[in-house]
Amino acid sequence: MIDPEEYGFSTRAIRAGHLRTDEGEHGEPIFPTSSYVFDSAEQAAARFSGDEPGNIYSRFTNPTVRTFEQRLAALEGGERCVATSSGMAAILSTCMGLLKAGDHVVVSRSVFGTTVVLFNQFMAKFGIEVTFVSLTELAEWEQAMRPNTRLLFLETPANPLTQVGDISALAALAHQNGALLAVDNVFCTPALQQPLALGADIVIHSATKYLDGQGRAMGGAVVGSEEVVGNDVYSFLRTAGPSMSPFNAWIFLKGLETLKLRMDAHTKNATLLAQWLEQQPGVSVVHYPGLESHVQHELASTQQSGAGGILSFELEGGQEAAWGLINATKMVSITANLGDTKTTITHPATTTHGRLTPEEKQQAGIGGGLVRVAVGLEDIEDLKQDLVRGL
Ligand SMILES: Cc1ncc(COP(=O)(O)O)c(C=O)c1O
Repeated sequence: MIDPEEYGFSTRAIRAGHLRTDEGEHGEPIFPTSSYVFDSAEQAAARFSGDEPGNIYSRFTNPTVRTFEQRLAALEGGERCVATSSGMAAILSTCMGLLKAGDHVVVSRSVFGTTVVLFNQFMAKFGIEVTFVSLTELAEWEQAMRPNTRLLFLETPANPLTQVGDISALAALAHQNGALLAVDNVFCTPALQQPLALGADIVIHSATKYLDGQGRAMGGAVVGSEEVVGNDVYSFLRTAGPSMSPFNAWIFLKGLETLKLRMDAHTKNATLLAQWLEQQPGVSVVHYPGLESHVQHELASTQQSGAGGILSFELEGGQEAAWGLINATKMVSITANLGDTKTTITHPATTTHGRLTPEEKQQAGIGGGLVRVAVGLEDIEDLKQDLVRGL
């Protein structure tokens, strides 16, 4: 196995974490086994007590999943990664592992709709107090801090308006108050942004998105230090079992091998499409951090090495115009997923953010005329052709 510290990003993405077996296989093997056989009763006891490292049961120890965990940790610059069955399972495991009744969390209002529901409906039910604030207003975060604030949670760039949060400033605020900062890095992936290097304590992934990259499998991950992720987050996963399957881990390993190439290509296509959309009649605003017109273009340029593949835009004609545009497409896929080689289009107000109340939608800036495009890797002229019909 290579020592990740000695190698660059692309090499780590291709080779980190693979401990070759005695078969000498070149590709990473899949271990489809639920349990493992011990040499003796003594060894079984030592494994279960933790005195001897090694595999026990695939809910929490599987070599293919471990290879994925070590590779992603090497890419994010974290000591430890815990792989989960989905991105939401990663957020849930973080909360269940690190929070207790009476704790307070501060969450960006601009997070994925289901994340809002998780905090509002479920974490609240277990006595965890939640305050939602504007991702971009540092003063709101400062005012929200309380003595019992344990976690700050954000996505940057945020879904679907691509607002950018200042990771270093929010990490400093969290640490001054004895809290942790968790960053959902789904939109950028470590190929474009490494939150731990900017001071964050925890990185969350929906591997379902760009880590896979071809829309095939569900998965997630939590990355951070051994202390934060390796104890209580791992312990929750081991106990409750929202674990990644070894088959999915193998798919994500293959995805990671081309991550950098794909993220650069997504960024190139999205930049061209965003610039073109800005010129189109009926489009009132285009949200994309790579555009100079984006309010936080400068901040995005300092903490990201590329703007990524997601953009959204607002149509003057409201929901009717947005649905008209979506229905006029012939090639791009009408689906809420993102992070695929295939371009996808969605209407956030009635899909990903449909469960928010009208007030929450208004506060989050999700209007009826908003359309989100997760720009894939098709020919850019074909993408323009497909959208211009509905414009
Ligand atoms: C930014 C972000 N975080 C988390 C999730 C949840 O991931 P999953 O669908 O894998 O549970 C999503 C899903 O769309 C997402 O877009």
